[in-house]
Amino acid sequence: MAVSIKTPEEIDLMRVAGRLAAEVLEMIGPHVQPGISTGELDRICHDYIVNQQQAVPAPLNYNGFPKSICTSVNHVICHGIPSDDKVLKDGDIINIDITVIKEGFHGDTSKMFLVGEVQPHAEKLVQTTQEALYLAIDMVKPGIQLGDIGNAIQQYAEKRHYSVVREYCGHGIGRIFHEEPQVLHYGRPGTGLTLEPGMTFTIEPMINAGSRYTRLSKKDGWTVTTKDRRLSAQWEHTLAVLDDGCEVLTRRQEEKF
Ligand code: MF3
Ligand code: CO
Ligand code: CO
Repeated sequence: MAVSIKTPEEIDLMRVAGRLAAEVLEMIGPHVQPGISTGELDRICHDYIVNQQQAVPAPLNYNGFPKSICTSVNHVICHGIPSDDKVLKDGDIINIDITVIKEGFHGDTSKMFLVGEVQPHAEKLVQTTQEALYLAIDMVKPGIQLGDIGNAIQQYAEKRHYSVVREYCGHGIGRIFHEEPQVLHYGRPGTGLTLEPGMTFTIEPMINAGSRYTRLSKKDGWTVTTKDRRLSAQWEHTLAVLDDGCEVLTRRQEEKF
């Protein structure tokens, strides 16, 4: 299967879906406080997406995923399942990953939240991971190769003695949640797909404080953690390649670009 090129009309629809996904993250921010459960965060987002946005939470029942958002706390890398038993506490870091479907198109984005007062080393990991996403976004334009982007993220992380998760990656997105291409967050310059206008994909680096190795929960089949149980951070945006650069379809108001 080849990488799909979206028409300007399709990109308009991706813009709508992307904006809605970003708005869910903007809405949920004030709720992320010590004492709230990830199950409650899921209910608030689900109700907002379904009732206010009249959109569909893409994770719900996706390959059997049981909830509407992913909540990944501390050493959880990604695909954490919201639960009423998981109550946030002072010093936690959490990734909230939102994907909505509106008029058949997906918008996929995540950000890290600091819960109460967070240790400096944790905040630094969170910040560095955001910087890695932003430097990758800055590179996106026609003619650049995916290996150039993956390499830049990897260099940025590893220079700071962090590691990059390899088992999970960014992805093409549109009418289909996960489509070609795979967007690796590591790699070699001058390799991989050459970007063209009309491509839409996510970049979503997962960066670990310790080793890059992961473990998939045998219990729930979803939760991915660091093998060494040290912290992990992730940020994600959905992008469209334009003639002269790119557009961040899931941009939040707090972001410039
Ligand atoms: N939103 C995730 C991503 O960035 C995928 C979540 S799939 C789910 O690709 F099933 F876990 F929800
Ligand atoms: Co994604
Ligand atoms: Co996502």
